[in-house]
Amino acid sequence: MKSVVCKFDDLVSGKAKRFVVGDRAIAVVRIENKVYAIGDQCSHADVALSDGEVFCDTKEIECSRHASSFSLETGKPNTLPATQPVRVYVANIENGDVVIEVK
Ligand code: FES
Repeated sequence: MKSVVCKFDDLVSGKAKRFVVGDRAIAVVRIENKVYAIGDQCSHADVALSDGEVFCDTKEIECSRHASSFSLETGKPNTLPATQPVRVYVANIENGDVVIEVK
């Protein structure tokens, strides 16, 4: 299922924003002219990744609680303490809208 979550221009590069699509909370991240979508819950504990810092150069988002950094492309944690990946979603820009694909 594809869902429009916002206008691309509503997003700020280097920041994450939380959206709910169906029953899933998703952190949508803009880095320059691209968008990424990752499940908005750390795999280590129930913490919203959208509250964390975005690292544009490495395309990662850091959990605000214990600082695990997750790849926005694969969802894998690149630093401890998290060891399990977070789900990532296909995100595209279509006619100025940010479209997330949730299967
Ligand atoms: S809650 Fe995210 S790293 Fe611990």
